[in-house]
Amino acid sequence: MDIKAVILAAGKGTRMKSESTPKVLHEIMGKSLLGYVLDNVKTIANEEFVIVGHQSEKVEKFVNDNYDNAKTVLQTPQLGTGHAVSMVCPYLENFEGLVLILCGDTPLIKEETLREFIEFHSNSNSDLTVMSTIFDNPANYGRIIRESDNSLKCIVEEKDATAEQKAVKEVNAGIYCLNWGKIKNAFSQLKTNNAQGEYYLTDIISWGKEQKLNVNAYILEDSDEIYGINSRSNLSTATKIMNARNLEKYMAQGVTIVDPDSTWISEDTLIGQDTIIYPATYIEGKNTIGKNCKIGPCAHLRGGVEVCDNVKVGNFVEVKKAKISSNTNVGHLSYIGDAELGERVNIGAGTITANYDPISKTKSKTVLKDDVKIGSNTVLVAPVTVEEGANVGAGSVITKNITKWALAITRAPLRVLEDWVQRRLK
Ligand code: UD1
Ligand code: MG
Repeated sequence: MDIKAVILAAGKGTRMKSESTPKVLHEIMGKSLLGYVLDNVKTIANEEFVIVGHQSEKVEKFVNDNYDNAKTVLQTPQLGTGHAVSMVCPYLENFEGLVLILCGDTPLIKEETLREFIEFHSNSNSDLTVMSTIFDNPANYGRIIRESDNSLKCIVEEKDATAEQKAVKEVNAGIYCLNWGKIKNAFSQLKTNNAQGEYYLTDIISWGKEQKLNVNAYILEDSDEIYGINSRSNLSTATKIMNARNLEKYMAQGVTIVDPDSTWISEDTLIGQDTIIYPATYIEGKNTIGKNCKIGPCAHLRGGVEVCDNVKVGNFVEVKKAKISSNTNVGHLSYIGDAELGERVNIGAGTITANYDPISKTKSKTVLKDDVKIGSNTVLVAPVTVEEGANVGAGSVITKNITKWALAITRAPLRVLEDWVQRRLK
């Protein structure tokens, strides 16, 4: 099936109160809101159009850097959701397939739900399908208004709704599937005669009805999935919902999560069976963790981390962009960044890979080969390689490569001044 996706991301996001970051680039566990939406649609659609406007350069850069099949389309000024979608009309003049429309600030929607939604659209021979859900508190959402025979009539925004309409609990999720060839003409006919003076995308429902097209609603059962982010408070709620979902998935796969209430693990982390994640651990971004590992308590994996089998990453250990091979221990109070650790390596407490040069603003790599043992409180000043089996004495600062099976030590000689304290006291 030929499917294009349109993702609305031009709005200002005023309620986020953010000067520096456009709403859709705020993150949940290391991935932006827009990143979640794009990751979910990229396997369904063969091309994605992201409508950008507010702080467009930042959103454009994010899309261009990360998504090959996505194109950004600028909407200025932003005259409403209907106007936003109309921006893709020139690109889809002769397109006859399906267009899936989503919002960039709805990161909890699942890929499988989108697939079911499209299947529902096709099976019901629909020309236009809107996703709806039931909310106990429907405030601020557009209400789904139905005819007496229960078929769809229109969508009414909160600001345009009568008291009777406001009582309706079925709301517009903001996700649509269109047979483009049949619906595209609607976009030149939308009007702004509403409370906000905007071109409402929602008006394509009543337009479709007038054209005697087949217009349907797909009712989503798990309303959490269309939870939209408008404020920092919404962002934290969405993070909790997503985390709970992820932890359930890992536990079902045979991972022990000792304390789900204090553990955070991103969706893009793979974890092997019989690994134990101890409390207060925070794992963000894309990572893989092998089998039979022990992670935490209080560990922080920051993304780009590959942990092989039987590895221990202990308390107050931060790991970023690093490979830790099997049977290696990083037990306590260490920072391992831009590094490659071999098998059976032991990292003493308080070891730091000094990967960043603030003058050149570059990062360099630390390589520790198999069977290397690093004494406590060592600083490995990258770029640096410690060859197979070498040992580093506690308290060393390692600034050059160390050869195989050597002992490297930079510790100042120990001096003991007998009775020094007593002499001072006199
Ligand atoms: C919209 C729907 C509402 C639905 C709700 C679901 C309309 C008129 N209303 O309301 O029925 O219940 O979503 O979350 O569509 N955007 C643009 N360009 C614009 C305006 C908005 O790209 O000119 C983008 C925003 O960045 C956002 C999305 O469209 O990602 C939705 O806009 P928003 O203003 O949040 O619409 P709602 O008021 O939430
Ligand atoms: Mg809004």
